Amino acid sequence: MKQVKAVIRPEKLNDVRAALERAGVCKGIMITDIIGSGNQKGIQQVWRGEKYVLDLIPKVMLDLVVRDQDVPVVKKAILESAPIGEYGDGKIFVYPVEEVIRIRTGEEGEKAL
Ligand SMILES: Nc1ncnc2c1ncn2[C@@H]1O[C@H](COP(=O)(O)OP(=O)(O)OP(=O)(O)O)[C@@H](O)[C@H]1O
Ligand SMILES: [Mg+2]
Repeated sequence: MKQVKAVIRPEKLNDVRAALERAGVCKGIMITDIIGSGNQKGIQQVWRGEKYVLDLIPKVMLDLVVRDQDVPVVKKAILESAPIGEYGDGKIFVYPVEEVIRIRTGEEGEKAL
């Protein structure tokens, strides 16, 4: 099993969720509002002629745990729905997951997804 964490633009959340639903690989999802910075360390803005850097930009983080074989489908769904084609489109991280337990039934592993 793998955990896919995707940081995306907040305004793309509905599109990305719809793409994941269509792909049929979304067993469950966690969504967190975050602030962060990537390669550009923020964006420069001008306010009343003064330049300043907005260094932490609001993003949304999606967190899904899926079967190993579903990872390519999840990646594809996100890559097709999340970008606007500019800096700050986000990033996908994939981690191994050791165990999943459904508390109600005690089921473990993929059965518990
Ligand atoms: N290496 C990283 N580690 C942890 N979080 C990251 C990392 N890179 C990006 N993020 C998170 O993803 C968000 C979006 O990153 P962003 O899309 O700007 O990545 P980037 O590497 O700068 O790519 P781009 O050049 O396309 O902007 C950041 O605000 C941050 O929350
Ligand atoms: Mg960036």
